[in-house]
Amino acid sequence: MKAFIWEKYGPPETLRMAEVEKPAPDAGEVLVQVLATSVNAADWHSLRGKPLFSRATLGLMRPKLKILGVDIAGQVEAVGGGVTQFKSGDEVYANLLDHGYGGFAEYVSVPVDVMSLKPANLSFEEAAAVPMAAVTALQGLHHHGEIKPAQKVLINGASGGVGSFAVQIAKSYGPEVTGVTSTRNIDLVRSLGADHVVDYTTTDFVRSGRRYDLILDTVGNRSVPDLRRALAEDGKAAVTGFTSVARLMGVSLRGGKEIAMVQAHVTTKDLELVSELIEAGKMRPQIDRRYPFAEIPAAIAYLEQGHARGKVVAGMTSRLLRG
Ligand SMILES: NC(=O)c1ccc[n+]([C@@H]2O[C@H](COP(=O)([O-])OP(=O)(O)OC[C@H]3O[C@@H](n4cnc5c(N)ncnc54)[C@H](OP(=O)(O)O)[C@@H]3O)[C@@H](O)[C@H]2O)c1
Repeated sequence: MKAFIWEKYGPPETLRMAEVEKPAPDAGEVLVQVLATSVNAADWHSLRGKPLFSRATLGLMRPKLKILGVDIAGQVEAVGGGVTQFKSGDEVYANLLDHGYGGFAEYVSVPVDVMSLKPANLSFEEAAAVPMAAVTALQGLHHHGEIKPAQKVLINGASGGVGSFAVQIAKSYGPEVTGVTSTRNIDLVRSLGADHVVDYTTTDFVRSGRRYDLILDTVGNRSVPDLRRALAEDGKAAVTGFTSVARLMGVSLRGGKEIAMVQAHVTTKDLELVSELIEAGKMRPQIDRRYPFAEIPAAIAYLEQGHARGKVVAGMTSRLLRG
């Protein structure tokens, strides 16, 4: 099968397409023919081996894993021992962050506890956009934030991969939602359902005088005192990403129970919750760009610039495989 091989830390163009052995599913796994994938910050952080301390798990000198890619959608080709919930031909989506990556390939073996049937009303490309970003938003807003209808909720980075799902998930619980983005994305964030939009190029939400019961910060550019200033009494913040190691350390050391770093772990249960929202018409992936499989390095390079408007996906038809 064809796959992008990850041999060393470096920029996206260090990924190389190669012919590798097709995997076989172990017990509790399903072999999926990957028909679409999306790129995530986890891909470019891992690819570059940054922050440096991440190499303690990724591999000190060179990556231990051979194929990147965490979000996939595709068709079940074969099932491993003991698998009864999926069968050959099922259309599925999954996230491989906690299971060795491997999505930038024609086939990947996926443990059944990180996959679900694909929402019926999404294409494979749309479905591949969902797992990592939507489940991160769900876990930050609901599992950590305990979102409630009467709250005021703020999403920092509302136009990005996580943020574009977060606005829609937050609205589905009924609160008043404010999205923070730049001027060019104001209409986009409003179209996702935000009641108010703050343009960060002209207004600092921390100093606007408004206070929020729940903040989902997907950017991670604010200090803990800044976040506290914008929180109402007993308010909570979930921070999913960071612009620097200092910001990450700040939240880890000084955030306490209310301001927490949320590291998403995708589960079948959460994918099913997300599928319900999508199939009920309450949420849709916002796709910014679509690339052919052969151009995954370009897709990662685009995402790395930090200004995606929703998700960046790559499709894998045989025509697109050749680029
Ligand atoms: N913890 C986890 O499990 C987990 C999972 C997924 C992602 N993450 C992390 O969460 C972060 C966001 O991921 P993502 O996939 O949403 O990234 P993304 O798609 O690259 O998000 C980029 C968005 O951030 C916005 N942005 C940039 N600077 C901003 C600012 N100063 N204020 C407000 N918005 C700003 C951009 O809007 P403009 O173009 O308008 O500037 C753009 O729409 C990343 O750091 C990622 O590593 C964590």
